[in-house]
Amino acid sequence: MKHLIAPSILAADFAHMGRDIKMLDESQADWIHIDVMDGRFVPNISFGFPVMKAIKPLSNKVMDCHLMIVEPEKYIQQFADFGADIITIHYEASHHLHRAMQALKDCGVQAGVALNPHTPVSLLFDILEEIDLVCLMSVNPGFGGQKFIYSTLQKVRTLRAEIDRRNLSTKIEIDGGVGLHNAEALLQAGADVLVAGSAVFKADDPKKMIESLKNIGQLKQL
Ligand code: DX5
Ligand code: ZN
Repeated sequence: MKHLIAPSILAADFAHMGRDIKMLDESQADWIHIDVMDGRFVPNISFGFPVMKAIKPLSNKVMDCHLMIVEPEKYIQQFADFGADIITIHYEASHHLHRAMQALKDCGVQAGVALNPHTPVSLLFDILEEIDLVCLMSVNPGFGGQKFIYSTLQKVRTLRAEIDRRNLSTKIEIDGGVGLHNAEALLQAGADVLVAGSAVFKADDPKKMIESLKNIGQLKQL
């Protein structure tokens, strides 16, 4: 499968959100990554339902909703109702992850689990069959524009090997500090989806940056 690009709107211009969503809609982006923060699970507050509701009608792209909140189970249904296609909750925020995966599927969305940098991928192996997407945090969640943590590469390799060994279709998403400098290494390690906030929105030409991220590795595939 060709890899997917999911620009994070955390790095967009909030005063011109409609314009930025339209730009993403016209770009080669596959998904739009939506970072919801509550000031409790992470030391920052971003946005929630009203923003999700406002941007949904502006694009046909897959809405990839990353919940960095405590008690995420309480809000699954509402995010699904407001148009999320994928909802990712944190391993560290859920006491009953297996039940939460079922709840996500019952809401008609794809079920994702995110792992903080210190959380080993092996902690998901007993319920890997239930998970559509594993989001490996390659920064400590809470802020855009941080430096990529390189030990993530080994986590990608370990998880890729387990997914392939069991012949699952679970996708591996990488979130934090991703850009042209590390995208190729991540894809070679086995990543399927690259989230990019600053790399896209701080670029002189965001659409072109998305295109460059999308085309990485293409020559090698020929
Ligand atoms: C961090 C968020 C990321 C963030 C990525 O808590 O989950 O999605 O927006 O931003 P960059 O690409 O700037 O690291
Ligand atoms: Zn995110």
